Amino acid sequence: MHSEVSVLASQYERVAFEEVHRHVLHLIPTDPVRVLDIGAGTGRDAAALSIRGHSVVAVEPAEDLRAAGQRLHAAHNIHWVDDTLPDLRSLRGKHRPFQLVMLTAVWMFLRKDQRRCAVSRIDELLEEGGRLGMVLRDGPAPANRGMLTVSAADTISLLATRGIRHIHQSQQADVLGREGVVWNNLFFEKPPAPKRTADTSSFV
Ligand SMILES: C[S@@+](CC[C@H](N)C(=O)[O-])C[C@H]1O[C@@H](n2cnc3c(N)ncnc32)[C@H](O)[C@@H]1O
Repeated sequence: MHSEVSVLASQYERVAFEEVHRHVLHLIPTDPVRVLDIGAGTGRDAAALSIRGHSVVAVEPAEDLRAAGQRLHAAHNIHWVDDTLPDLRSLRGKHRPFQLVMLTAVWMFLRKDQRRCAVSRIDELLEEGGRLGMVLRDGPAPANRGMLTVSAADTISLLATRGIRHIHQSQQADVLGREGVVWNNLFFEKPPAPKRTADTSSFV
């Protein structure tokens, strides 16, 4: 494995899904659902969600990370896809909408215009009544990683423009202990489809 990739892979895999998402574990469906993990890295979360019985599609554009994830989590039933937000073109027409979409430590790699487009694509991919989990980085960014500043308040407002409702917000310190880095855990819910009322016109 390329040394930079092996450093990232060990960072991503050193922490447990249950630790990264400890404030929102109660919001993750317990019955098996279709999950889309966007920017899955080496598949730590995809594997944990698959172990929990979910059917997981992991999107990861970096070939080295995807390959590492496929190798590290070969025992788990994860469908890996090479694609990129905001378009996620290769998912078009291939999957039913997902009941859970996860975006962990990814949002800060998208420019503002890309984030706007990404939100409408996520809306298309999310089933009515489905949930979206996001983890946003706050704090100093390492050099040369292309990370931008993202605000929890702006993200909540952006999703609200699509009617996707914010149901949880919390903060936690960096599990890897990086100076000044904190993470915002956000969870959202897309409103359920309106109940169809019986057509009574024929009785009139
Ligand atoms: C900090 S890593 C987080 C990986 C994983 N979610 C985790 O928590 O371990 C960010 C990931 O987002 C991916 N990424 C960056 N820009 C992306 C984009 N536009 N669309 C999808 N994934 C992207 C990167 O390749 C990388 O794997």
